[in-house]
Amino acid sequence: MALQSSVREQIAGLGPWFHNLHLPDGTQTSPDHPFGDFPSFKWQHVAAAIPDDLSGWSVLDIGCNAGFYSFELARRGARVLGVDVEPMYVRQACWAAHEFDLKDRVEFVEGDVYGLLGSERRYDMVWFTGVFYHLRYPTLALDLVRRATQRLMVFQSMTLPGPARDVTPPDVPLNRRELMLEQAWPKMAFVEHRVADDDSNWWVPNASCVEALLRSAGFEVIARPEHEFYVCGPVRVPEESTRDLARITAISTARGCNGP
Ligand SMILES: C[S@@+](CC[C@H](N)C(=O)[O-])C[C@H]1O[C@@H](n2cnc3c(N)ncnc32)[C@H](O)[C@@H]1O
Repeated sequence: MALQSSVREQIAGLGPWFHNLHLPDGTQTSPDHPFGDFPSFKWQHVAAAIPDDLSGWSVLDIGCNAGFYSFELARRGARVLGVDVEPMYVRQACWAAHEFDLKDRVEFVEGDVYGLLGSERRYDMVWFTGVFYHLRYPTLALDLVRRATQRLMVFQSMTLPGPARDVTPPDVPLNRRELMLEQAWPKMAFVEHRVADDDSNWWVPNASCVEALLRSAGFEVIARPEHEFYVCGPVRVPEESTRDLARITAISTARGCNGP
């Protein structure tokens, strides 16, 4: 009983929590989460679309938060690197890794998806859920994620309501731009202020846009196991992204440049 309350105190000291982790002693980190038992209820639908045995796989969990998905993937045998820009979440994940006795399979560090720009490292799987709509430069991030992915990528974004459309016409004449106003045309809504009182939300794509962006980045969608979740395989490396990433890298590493 004393041990239980001390874990509760530690949870309170590390909070607030976005991930409701079920700790080995039965306590939960966010039992009153407004979404319910989050993200456990999501994982229950996604889990079957991920290989059961991830032995030998390297995984990058971008925006890992308190590490829920990192832990599930590590339990399947993967070696996981979780990165998050928010130090509080990295502290939570490190603490939970210790509680779960998974410290030899998972590592958590403060990091930014854009940090992939300067990284040569490649991963068998990149887990990229709940981050895309928080980014001001989402397509840059997706191209970086594609470059880092060797076998599988799991994507999730908040989306606009509406149906997905598989293909868009190869060309839109200038005088037919109204085609792009159709509900299912790939689009993203820009958020100048807030969604759900959160000023870290920038772009909300519709389902067509998610699929078009994934294709354009060089992924194919293998499974849609849950609302807004896409399990993807890398099928090609688009020339456009290779060229643009090389340019951005060159600019960002240029020496003796005082700007334009
Ligand atoms: C909505 S939560 C999603 C958490 C988890 N990936 C999930 O699917 O449950 C967004 C997370 O992304 C992190 N994040 C936001 N911008 C980021 C960035 N540029 N690079 C890495 N992580 C980021 C936030 O700190 C937060 O932990």
